[in-house]
Amino acid sequence: MSHIEQIPPYLTWKIRHKVMYPELDFEKVILPNDDDGVHLGLFDENKLITVVSLFKTDTSMQFRKFATLSEYQHKGYGSEILQYLLEYSKNEGCDHIWCNARRSATAFYSKFGFIGTDKTSFANGHEYMVMERAL
Ligand SMILES: CC(C)(COP(=O)(O)OP(=O)(O)OC[C@H]1O[C@@H](n2cnc3c(N)ncnc32)[C@H](O)[C@@H]1OP(=O)(O)O)[C@@H](O)C(=O)NCCC(=O)NCCS
Repeated sequence: MSHIEQIPPYLTWKIRHKVMYPELDFEKVILPNDDDGVHLGLFDENKLITVVSLFKTDTSMQFRKFATLSEYQHKGYGSEILQYLLEYSKNEGCDHIWCNARRSATAFYSKFGFIGTDKTSFANGHEYMVMERAL
């Protein structure tokens, strides 16, 4: 049985590093403003499987560092937490949500109504596109 709860920033770091940036030094996955964010974790049988970090500015929510442990991907955990964070952001008074999506994840976000923009970038070997949707 899975559940989602708010977790302290440090609990996201191991999964961020393992799933998203295994080639970088561990410290590089720590965001300077991690303490300003809200961090959500999805647990199944008390094992932390998916993490995502939220940063609110006025009525806009940005989510970052969204990652599911590799061996648990494609089982619906990411969709579960994404659905949760859409509701959460709305309840927090946000009217807009966005992310810097890796190219490899854009189809996934499209399924949830996110629209790609012309804001693209390249960093750490990955291509990114800002994707957004109204809430
Ligand atoms: C993006 C990411 C967080 C999604 O998490 P996830 O737990 O795999 O998400 P889901 O299982 O809900 O969905 C992933 C895919 O599996 C599919 N899926 C979901 N449940 C499934 C099931 N039971 N059987 C088969 N496929 C399934 C989804 O339709 C989705 O397909 P799509 O990518 O073609 O749209 C995860 O792939 C990840 O950590 N990737 C590496 C890091 C990364 O790129 N993060 C995003 C940065 S922007």
